Amino acid sequence: MSVHTEIKKVTTHTLQRMKANGEKISMITAYDYSFARLFDAAGIDVILVGDSASNVMAGHETTLPITLDQMIYHASSVMRGVNRAFVVVDLPFGSYQSNSKEALASAIRIMKETGAHGIKVEGGEEILESVNRILAAGIPIIGHLGLTPQSIYKFGTYTVRAREDEEAEKLKKDARLLEEAGCSGVVLEKIPATLAKIVAQDLHIPVIGIGAGKYCDGQVLVMHDLLGINTEFQPRFLRRYLSLADEITGAVRHYIKDVKDNDFPNEQEQY
Ligand code: KIV
Repeated sequence: MSVHTEIKKVTTHTLQRMKANGEKISMITAYDYSFARLFDAAGIDVILVGDSASNVMAGHETTLPITLDQMIYHASSVMRGVNRAFVVVDLPFGSYQSNSKEALASAIRIMKETGAHGIKVEGGEEILESVNRILAAGIPIIGHLGLTPQSIYKFGTYTVRAREDEEAEKLKKDARLLEEAGCSGVVLEKIPATLAKIVAQDLHIPVIGIGAGKYCDGQVLVMHDLLGINTEFQPRFLRRYLSLADEITGAVRHYIKDVKDNDFPNEQEQY
């Protein structure tokens, strides 16, 4: 029996076993109770309450504006819908970069006020002190390297990262540092598949990719992209499994027509 079918609750230990067994890990973002409930019931291994909520829920251009309080609201809503999946929550921009004391305080708020199982932070060596302090408090961490959207104004564009040797070497070093510190996994975003393969082979902890190719130990997608709610975003790495934007538009147009035609509600739909 696979680890996926055998276990009732996904933990950091489960993810480690999946990697060791060569079993791929499925991860998706969620930001509210209703979708989290559906994804959990469908059997997703990990739910990420991503700071992409800033984009897809709040309509901001970047992930920078979302606050810790807003992340806590999304994460606690998600937690009410989840029985099985491991739930990890992004520490938002500005809640962990100043110093390790602030980072720990933010991580503790997430854990205490949402009931989530771990947090995710962007960066390697530069945030290592904070990573160590949060881990010392017993809070699981997933790292995030490659294209780290909280640094978008440093990068300037959302293009593929670590194509050049220097950046690739730094990424490999950062991934190793995160593993040695005790992180439970690393997300690699938008880097060459060959580099992601090297990192996944090098690390003992799971490496989850988004736009990082097929050799990662698992994959993560933003739910709005996977379900086709957000049709403007069309990167090469994205596979859409639904065209929900069309479905929703069609359904709402139908509803509008029925109301205007006085066809809704009918005799059976009233008291
Ligand atoms: O915030 C998010 O949704 C993420 C994923 C893109 C990995 O960090």
